[in-house]
Amino acid sequence: MLVNLLSVAVAVIATCIPSVFAKESACKIKNLVVFGDSYADIGNVYRLTKKTWPLSFYNNGRFTNGRVWIEHVAKAKKYKMHSYAFGGATCDNNLVQGYSGPTSEVRVPGMIQQVEAYLSKSNRKDASKTLFVLNSLGNDFVFDSSLEPAAVVARVHDSILRLEKVGAKNILVVENFDMGNIPYFRNNATQAAYFTRISIDEQAVYKDFITLLGPKYVRLGPHPFLNCKDDRVNVGFLNLWDLFKHLHQPGQLKRLGITDVIQGCVSSDYKTVCSDPDKHFYWDDFHLTGKIHKEISTAVLKLL
Ligand SMILES: *[C@@H]1O[C@H](CO)[C@@H](O)[C@H](O)[C@H]1NC(C)=O
Repeated sequence: MLVNLLSVAVAVIATCIPSVFAKESACKIKNLVVFGDSYADIGNVYRLTKKTWPLSFYNNGRFTNGRVWIEHVAKAKKYKMHSYAFGGATCDNNLVQGYSGPTSEVRVPGMIQQVEAYLSKSNRKDASKTLFVLNSLGNDFVFDSSLEPAAVVARVHDSILRLEKVGAKNILVVENFDMGNIPYFRNNATQAAYFTRISIDEQAVYKDFITLLGPKYVRLGPHPFLNCKDDRVNVGFLNLWDLFKHLHQPGQLKRLGITDVIQGCVSSDYKTVCSDPDKHFYWDDFHLTGKIHKEISTAVLKLL
């Protein structure tokens, strides 16, 4: 009897497991391909500037003191990663030219130009098994403060459509945060208020955009990228505005051991570095500490 039950169990497992696996492998993401700016650059500007920017006290060409969030995600999920992101990148150089380097003198490809570089590659990995990340967070407004947020989100839409054309099934869009909070603007109340206003406007545009994409694409909520029961393209959103607001709550700051959410660890003139970077939210005037990158990756891993 026991033997019979066991063989029934084995038979059930044998018939169930392959179908479970088949379903999973059809959805299985194996690669991470990233477009955007310094929050996702793991050495492109560094190579372009012959290792002169970012400076030596940054982490090996990253615009932070640790790893950037995409690296944590790739490691945790065992994805093969390629980042096309450049520090200083805008969404599209035909809209606003992006620059990097100590005096913003080095031209860098924008997000759309990075997507084009990816599309022109002949040895692309299977797009249907790739998670694409669009991480263009606001350099556009740094280089042209009169720009309309709708123009930026339109480029995000354009990028989605271009990737969809080559078979992309999973795209993660990283939404902007409150730019008025970064040290570069925060030290000037007029500028802080102005860039907060732009950020609020961009959030409103993203809200409309998500409604516009609607049921044809959008998966909100947990694990948007595992849903592959139909042919729709999964577009998920990570809202950094909400995440940073959450991380700024006293309980969260206590958990993280962060006591300074105002000043960067690196001085504005890049001449001095603080002795307690782990107590800072911002690494420099524009960038996050490695600790906060880790927090972003934790939020992203909840979607995967
Ligand atoms: C703050 O920024 C505004 C707008 O860019 C500028 O006109 C003003 O001079 C700045 N104030 C200070 C104290 O730097």
